[in-house]
Amino acid sequence: MNDSVHLQNHNEIAVITIDNPPVNALSPAVIEGLLAAFAQSEADDTVNAIVLTGAGKTFIAGADIREFGKIVSGQSRGRALLDLIDRVENCRKPVIMAIHGTAFGGGLELAMAGHYRLADPGAQVGQPEVKLGLIPGAGGTQRLPRLAGVAKAVEMCAEGNPVKAEDAARLGILDGMVRGDLVAEAITFAREVAGKSIPKTRERTEKLGDASQNAAIFAAARETARKKQRNLIAPLAAIDAVEAATQLPFDEGIALERRLFNECLFSDQSKALIHVFFGEREVARVPDIPKETPTLPVNTAAVVGAGTMGSGIAMVFANAGIPVLVKETEQAALDRGLATIQKNYANSVKRGRFTQQFADERMQLITPTLSYDGFSQIDMVIEAVFEGMALKKQVFAELDRMCKPGAILASNTSTLNVDEIAASTSRPESVIGTHFFSPANVMRLLEIVRGRASSKEVVATCMQLAKKLGKVGVLVGNCRGFVGNRMFHPYIREATFLVEEGASVEAVDKALYDFGMAMGPLATGDLAGLDVGWRIRKEYRHLEKPDVRQAFAADRLCELGRYGQKTGAGWYKYDENRRPIPDPAVADLVRRWSAEAGIPHREIPSQEIVERCIYALVNEGARILEEGYALRAVDIDIIYINGYGFPAYRGGPMWYADTVGLRRVYDRICEFERQHGELWTPAPLLKKLAESNRTFASFIREPGATAA
Ligand code: NAI
Repeated sequence: MNDSVHLQNHNEIAVITIDNPPVNALSPAVIEGLLAAFAQSEADDTVNAIVLTGAGKTFIAGADIREFGKIVSGQSRGRALLDLIDRVENCRKPVIMAIHGTAFGGGLELAMAGHYRLADPGAQVGQPEVKLGLIPGAGGTQRLPRLAGVAKAVEMCAEGNPVKAEDAARLGILDGMVRGDLVAEAITFAREVAGKSIPKTRERTEKLGDASQNAAIFAAARETARKKQRNLIAPLAAIDAVEAATQLPFDEGIALERRLFNECLFSDQSKALIHVFFGEREVARVPDIPKETPTLPVNTAAVVGAGTMGSGIAMVFANAGIPVLVKETEQAALDRGLATIQKNYANSVKRGRFTQQFADERMQLITPTLSYDGFSQIDMVIEAVFEGMALKKQVFAELDRMCKPGAILASNTSTLNVDEIAASTSRPESVIGTHFFSPANVMRLLEIVRGRASSKEVVATCMQLAKKLGKVGVLVGNCRGFVGNRMFHPYIREATFLVEEGASVEAVDKALYDFGMAMGPLATGDLAGLDVGWRIRKEYRHLEKPDVRQAFAADRLCELGRYGQKTGAGWYKYDENRRPIPDPAVADLVRRWSAEAGIPHREIPSQEIVERCIYALVNEGARILEEGYALRAVDIDIIYINGYGFPAYRGGPMWYADTVGLRRVYDRICEFERQHGELWTPAPLLKKLAESNRTFASFIREPGATAA
């Protein structure tokens, strides 16, 4: 037919094969090829039935996501798949879908328009569009309830999670599972049904339920969506569309689905989520480190320090099947670390995330030790001892003596200079930062800190390793706080200033929670421990300019022993379940402190709270970008979404600023500078882009960019 679709005749059964590696996405060429193959098969009198299958490892993993952008920009009407689906369902010869791998999104929509669906037991089906801020737009919301029933269809379209073949067969999405040769079995099946009456999904109504049952299903689904997918429009649109399937004739349901699909597609949310989808792939690309760069094997690892981070990092390696030594200086600390690991695995088993066997196997991969015995064999060491330069240097000098040449020596430091650490070894080219986030076994983000001397092989290996460890690795440069924490500092500073100016702790947190952050900044401070920032601020106090305003409220709370959750009180009080309770004592204290400092209290609208905190992130992000500590704006976005609870549907702080318009962001920052002084001096890059009407997303540094 064309390069991506093949047609073969197997003795009166046409077999159409999609061949569009890697995942048989429904590109325009595939759709065109399928239309031609169906037309030819239908016209061919020697063909009695048609089998559709996918070459390679999958049936159809979904629509071609780049096509969505073309619809938005007016280059495509986006109706081609709908036309194909009509053509398949109205085909006068039975169409059998032979599904292996995945039938996701448009792939499942096409499969449901077929007359029968057979699948390999390892196959999965699903409507994941909602994860891109969309709903199924080619009949999925209308056909799925007709096959799977209303409750399951609502769940699949609103939550987007895949369903295994076995469950899909039980639900009626599949007609059966085939062990053995899928296509051969589908051909045999096709011979059996050829010439018989053809069942069309669109004509089926027996699973569409009755009005009163359905009302309860939709009400419950809406409540779940509002809670679990806070502020998102697509899940609610998906529920509306499935509801239409139960209330309207099929064609009217399709028309409504189309309208809702377009509303979602043209929304900022979907554009942001698609940006994030591509961004997670983009961050793996480093301009001066080509794909062919050789990488080093990481088959064994060691972690030095079994505290909060070290124990989590050991689990990350074990979970990826990599044996890992865990070294401590004292038996008691080692026992504590191992007990934490054991407790975490036990919890995962209890919650059904891991089987007991999986957890036992992972524990077997973790070997506790008090010495450097065995380190000479290890491919990669991650240091996670206390944060202090002298100690880190001592540990790295020891590692330099103990480890084989070529072993990667990584530090999990969150603030220290990786080049200075590297200088304590005879092999700075093997030294790099791997900044995990807490809890390391849960958080997806991994900042990979490139030192001045880190070799390309070492960087490439760590980027690749991130994926193997189930993390999103983002390459950052070696500046204080790297990217994430460097930006977090002004964000927290503004949150504290706002409280000192009269906003309540709850109002600050609520404004940012409502904006979409997973947690308010002050509650986050309590969770991480206010003493962490306090110690850092004390250490760097000598760098502060005397005439520049400093936030003081968090430090004063620390002086009173209020470190946050760990001491039962910080910005909030905490009950025995660590639930935050607003504390009037904090309000009184802050009022007194502000009065003493001559800061008048005033009413602060939530919009100002959001702008002050989020634009503080954006302004620092712009500096980082200009200075080359992040490769691209999207790298910063991916860091904030995966490490700091920034809402993915806003695309990350830099993307969000682009959607607000950099001119508006810049003007507001200039206003803050007039009110609050030089802490708000706009980043030169922000000024430049705003004045030339450009975006962060369009900013590309000169060739040779390195995340220096
Ligand atoms: P921690 O205090 O929980 O653990 C440090 C562990 O290192 C202790 O168990 C200590 O006994 C051990 N240790 C000290 N000297 C040692 C030596 N010479 N050999 C072996 N073990 C030694 O500290 P945490 O929180 O795990 O931090 C570790 C590193 O990770 C620090 O550099 C920190 O800045 C960084 N980090 C911490 C994050 C957090 O949220 N806690 C997040 C990201 C990075």
